[in-house]
Amino acid sequence: MSSPTVTYLADYRAPEFLIEKTHLTFELHEGYTDVSSQLTLVRNPQGTQAAHLVLHGEQLELLALAIDERTLNAEDYQTTPLNLTVYNVPERFVLHCKTRIYPEKNTALEGLYRSGGMYCTQCEAEGFRKITYYLDRPDVMSEFETVIIAQAGTFSTMLSNGNCVSDTVRDGNRIVHWHDPFKKPSYLFALVAGNLACLEDHFTTQSGRQVLLQIYTEAKDQDKCHFAMQSLKKAMRWDEQTYGREYDLDRFMIVAVDDFNMGAMENKGLNIFNTACVLAHPASTTDAAFQRVEGVIAHEYFHNWSGNRVTCRDWFQLSLKEGLTVYRDSEFSADMNSRAVKRIEDANLIRSVQFVEDAGPMAHPVRPDSYMEISNFYTVTIYEKGAEVVRMLANILGPEQYRRATDLYFSRFDGQAVTCDDFVQCMEEVSGKDLQQFRLWYSQAGTPHLQISDSFDADRQQYSLTIRQHTPATPGQTEKKALHIPFKTALYGDKGALPLTINGQNKGTETTLDICQDQQTIVFEQVTEAPAPSLLRSFSAPVKIFYDYQLPQLQRLILLDSDGFCRWDAMQSLMRIVLCNAIDGKDNHTEQTVLIEAIRQLLASHSTMDAALLASMLSLPNEQYLASLYAKADPVAISQARTQLQNQLAAELQTELLHCYQILQDQAQGLSAPAMAARSLRNAALAYLLQLDNAHYRSLAQQQFAQADNMTNQFSALRALVHAEHAHAIAQEALQAFYQQWQHETLVVNMWFQVQATRPWGNVLQEVQNLLHHKAFDARNPNKLRAVIAAFANQNFARFHDKSGKAYQFLAEQIADIDQRNPQIASRLLTPLTHWHQFTDTHATLMRTALESLTQHELSKDMYEVVSKSLS
Ligand code: PHE
Ligand code: ZN
Repeated sequence: MSSPTVTYLADYRAPEFLIEKTHLTFELHEGYTDVSSQLTLVRNPQGTQAAHLVLHGEQLELLALAIDERTLNAEDYQTTPLNLTVYNVPERFVLHCKTRIYPEKNTALEGLYRSGGMYCTQCEAEGFRKITYYLDRPDVMSEFETVIIAQAGTFSTMLSNGNCVSDTVRDGNRIVHWHDPFKKPSYLFALVAGNLACLEDHFTTQSGRQVLLQIYTEAKDQDKCHFAMQSLKKAMRWDEQTYGREYDLDRFMIVAVDDFNMGAMENKGLNIFNTACVLAHPASTTDAAFQRVEGVIAHEYFHNWSGNRVTCRDWFQLSLKEGLTVYRDSEFSADMNSRAVKRIEDANLIRSVQFVEDAGPMAHPVRPDSYMEISNFYTVTIYEKGAEVVRMLANILGPEQYRRATDLYFSRFDGQAVTCDDFVQCMEEVSGKDLQQFRLWYSQAGTPHLQISDSFDADRQQYSLTIRQHTPATPGQTEKKALHIPFKTALYGDKGALPLTINGQNKGTETTLDICQDQQTIVFEQVTEAPAPSLLRSFSAPVKIFYDYQLPQLQRLILLDSDGFCRWDAMQSLMRIVLCNAIDGKDNHTEQTVLIEAIRQLLASHSTMDAALLASMLSLPNEQYLASLYAKADPVAISQARTQLQNQLAAELQTELLHCYQILQDQAQGLSAPAMAARSLRNAALAYLLQLDNAHYRSLAQQQFAQADNMTNQFSALRALVHAEHAHAIAQEALQAFYQQWQHETLVVNMWFQVQATRPWGNVLQEVQNLLHHKAFDARNPNKLRAVIAAFANQNFARFHDKSGKAYQFLAEQIADIDQRNPQIASRLLTPLTHWHQFTDTHATLMRTALESLTQHELSKDMYEVVSKSLS
């Protein structure tokens, strides 16, 4: 393998040239597309006065090149596979350039490509350079005009960013002209051409402007856009009310495409979405998918301010837009649905995925300092940990100051490309708080560990908590400093939350401790009974806590804690104790009894409790999280312990589970939040019951499958049947019926693939291989690869980590093949193998061997970075 170059944050230099105006003409032909550009270039006073202009460009056929009216000769410029250098250019000039590209052959889905019958683009992060030669970096912001030309009658829809200036037919060609008045970096450029249907609506902004809203899809999917439209309008209103942000253009367009590497893209005025993140209909979409649509629609819309109007100076600042926008969409979802459940989902994701990333070879700070391939840095660290960092800032400032600080940020930097530090600076200026130590959250990688010990002095009525922080080393960063950790805490007595007094000051029943030193002791006064500490309330910081809970303390928090996250977390701790005892072969009787009784009590209180919260409290810690608790985890033992506990809980609690399942039937109708909550609880109960070898429970699932009038119920029943070991024959029938019914709905077929790839028992590897040959499978479509291969590798811990190691080898072979077509997807699929060091030697060796086998191939830059970092 020859190593690609590394880009360093420390090497950042202002661009030598700026592009005032960008005029693009696309001539779409069958088989190829010609792109003509006119770039109005001016020297950047902040540059170094370099004599030559160096543009980015990859996989382009250069057809013509001129400066102002003068055609350039061969000695005036030079091309390499990555650049075009034009020698000795003037201070200010128009560069005319014509390139030919081949969208039909573009399998990487970056730049201009075809998805089904339509053309679409994906330019973030560095895809624009596959369209034409350009200064393809986010700190070069330009005003774009786009002309799209195609033979008249070929496409009903021809879109680009901004407003449509004209739409005419001349000499048998349709010519559509777009203009975006807002300056933007090239990564926000978009173009779409196809034969699409459109759902339209309007939104009146807070200042009274009418905005046209359009969602474009294939005609067959038009009835699946109403929910996305409602979500969009809610998001627009929410951003006005919560952040004072109003939409700026007259038109906001969303286009759904089948082939897309990610979830969606915030191109100015023309968002492009993976169909999986926009289409939704109760018959064919699960509740979880509805919520994903609502969240992603909001996320991309919110980018219009946090990303587009104010953008990133360079890609090291990616979290400036992504962290902030994830925080914004997460708060939006919390306001629209159950806040507690949203917080639990976010915390669970951080804990079971981001902490694992932090412990692996790809660990990086929220603001990385180097990369080989930026596409590898669209990670849970940049997105989710970045959002947690913004959340901590919002909490440190409080709602009123945070709002003033974001107002300042948006007004001061409107139309500019800025840094994470500029953002923190606004927080600092408005609050007057010193955030110097807090800034380490951006530069220091890794998960802080908090070791917590306590003591209670009954005579002096004092309870003290001692907190020691320590962040384990990460690749390239061995020395770690103490961070500023906002640590929200309460104390629970027998009857509920205790009043808190620190240094004679009354703190109510909940307080945020500022943990800033390596070790700190906090003394609570006037504590009248030995408390159960409720720690890291609402997951107030992305840290791991280690505190030795006594069983009665956990019981108390599970039943009494007013913080949904802490209730759930106490239950997770109790389950974790039981599971780890089982894995370690320890006697577990008392712990099991406490757990069973705690769940029994919860199930009995289902009528007085948020059913969605209760459902999330029933789910066992996932395997990935359990593995992360061990220096060398045995994946087989982990899966076994988890399955056994599931069985045991089902057996002991079947009466209560069945009762819950039956009593909630009536409440589980329709699309309201309480109905969704009731469904999630019922279906969690059903999945438990199906663990048991019991014909009655199987027939309940069978009935639910057959009679369901919504996808949540139908699919939950299908999954319960397929994943249960005792229901094989019924499950096979159901699978067939499901395929029969839904074979024309691509997204549902993907769920059908996924449910089979994640079955925790049997020879799933063989079945996964068979699925790859199914007529509905398409190896060029990222959603299909995710539904089969990624689902198997990431969500089927038991079968993926089969001790034969064959699944590892299978994954490596698939990835080597996919890398030839789509490096971004290949490199993402590799993640589970990069965690080889987490597992016992036998597994670790087999995983490493699979990784090593990849070095025999000609690897993409994306793959090279991940493989080489994982093996070193
Ligand atoms: N910027 C997109 C988002 O909203 C994600 C994305 C990145 C999409 C790169 C495509 C390519 O998060
Ligand atoms: Zn985003």
